[in-house]
Amino acid sequence: MQLPGTQVSVLEAASATDAKSVSALADELGAKPETVVGAVFELQDRGLLTVEERTEERVELTGEGEGYVESGLPEVRLYRAAVEAGATAEPVSMGQVIGASGLEGGAVDIALANYARKGYGQIDSGELTANPDADPDADGEATVLAALADGGVDAADIEASVREQLVSRDLVSVSESTERLVTLTDAGVTALMEGVEESETVGQLTPELLTSGEWQDVEFAEYNVEADAETRYGGKKHILRQTADRVKDTLVGMGFQEMEGPHADAEFWINDCLFMPQDHPARTHWDQFALDVPPMQDLPEDLVARVEDAHRNGVGPDGDGYHSPWTEDVARGVDLRGHTTSLSMRYLSGHAVGELEPPQRYFSVEKVYRNDTLDATHLLEFFQIEGWVMAEDLSVRDLMGTFTEFYEQFGITDLQFKPHYNPYTEPSFELFGEHPETGEIVEIGNSGIFREEVLRPLGVDCDVMAWGLALERLLMLTHGFEDIRDVHGTLVDLDFLRTEEVVH
Ligand code: PHE
Repeated sequence: MQLPGTQVSVLEAASATDAKSVSALADELGAKPETVVGAVFELQDRGLLTVEERTEERVELTGEGEGYVESGLPEVRLYRAAVEAGATAEPVSMGQVIGASGLEGGAVDIALANYARKGYGQIDSGELTANPDADPDADGEATVLAALADGGVDAADIEASVREQLVSRDLVSVSESTERLVTLTDAGVTALMEGVEESETVGQLTPELLTSGEWQDVEFAEYNVEADAETRYGGKKHILRQTADRVKDTLVGMGFQEMEGPHADAEFWINDCLFMPQDHPARTHWDQFALDVPPMQDLPEDLVARVEDAHRNGVGPDGDGYHSPWTEDVARGVDLRGHTTSLSMRYLSGHAVGELEPPQRYFSVEKVYRNDTLDATHLLEFFQIEGWVMAEDLSVRDLMGTFTEFYEQFGITDLQFKPHYNPYTEPSFELFGEHPETGEIVEIGNSGIFREEVLRPLGVDCDVMAWGLALERLLMLTHGFEDIRDVHGTLVDLDFLRTEEVVH
């Protein structure tokens, strides 16, 4: 019988009496497991081998589990301290026992949560009793942890209820692996006895085979499209970047052009142009990141004068300014932008690309930086979807219509609008969407129509409606994340990054 080379080696290495695993065969032959699997399946098809699949479970200690092997389970430590303190005879104050146990921080909660469950005693109104019949040395969970640390127990030998507890407490992790065990069939033995030779099959067509014309005479190996292959993870765009790209496509499709500009910018562009008084609470270091760099020199003088005038005197005959200090020094200070509305100011003023005539539509999907407290919905930096439309006679309806059209493309059709206040827009409103998992109403953006006090100094004499939307919040609504840190930063699940796609 003639067989391709790998199949011959696998057949010769296999045994009729002693089942061998694919990984053992691969080791023995110095071949890759996926190559051996391919050959094994071919040989199985020819009836020369049998393959038995066996799924094995492995139970391993987690870091926390290992820690308790050293120090003892928190509830066991609590019990020993309670016995020591005489709690087998009468209730003892919880504080006293905890103090004596040496437990600290989260370990205290863990001890208390497991104490009564495991029959070590009762906890009632700040006092603790210890069950004289409990035996901490026979603690089922501790015993399994110790056995695992000692070099392992068979997953099958761990009592189901104990295992369930250990898994839910995150003290052990369970993983599965599939082994394929290979045995020679009678036909395989016969074939080997009669003699098996390596056939000259060619696995890959090469330029040499083509130029020499040899390809006409050789026998090509057949592809086995069912063979197991190693999963390969190539480079891939991060889901957040995919979403940003999709937002860009969507806005370009709606007729918008993209804005660009600096992440670190003069307060002038970030705040002053937006008619934000210099003593506004949002302009303190509590909210924004000021940079210790020289002040920005390059500001358009005329515009600075007009903005200062708007702040001091207001705009129009009935206008009124802020009766608070305004200095150019503050305006020239450089900050990390807290919103990309700084870009809108650069473009609307004509500073970025020259004077703009209505109608115009511009957007950016860029990072902004805020000195927020990190939590499930706030990051210190995030992506803002900035945008504005410049046209005659715009109204809130135009703004709502634009949002409805934009969010519809992401399957979000239940927008809610709430009146809001911004120093730079009037009217203003915030946008909300419903979280697909929790049903909670999540704020996803802020918007409005720019005030005269903003537009006049910029030299714009038609209407401008504008917004800043949070890209991460959009992703929370489309994918059902409850914590923004699930998509941003070091806690993001690797598997998720590998497999998740943003559908177009
Ligand atoms: N700058 C606002 C924010 O960051 C968004 C916004 C932009 C609102 C333009 C109105 C107009 O929340």
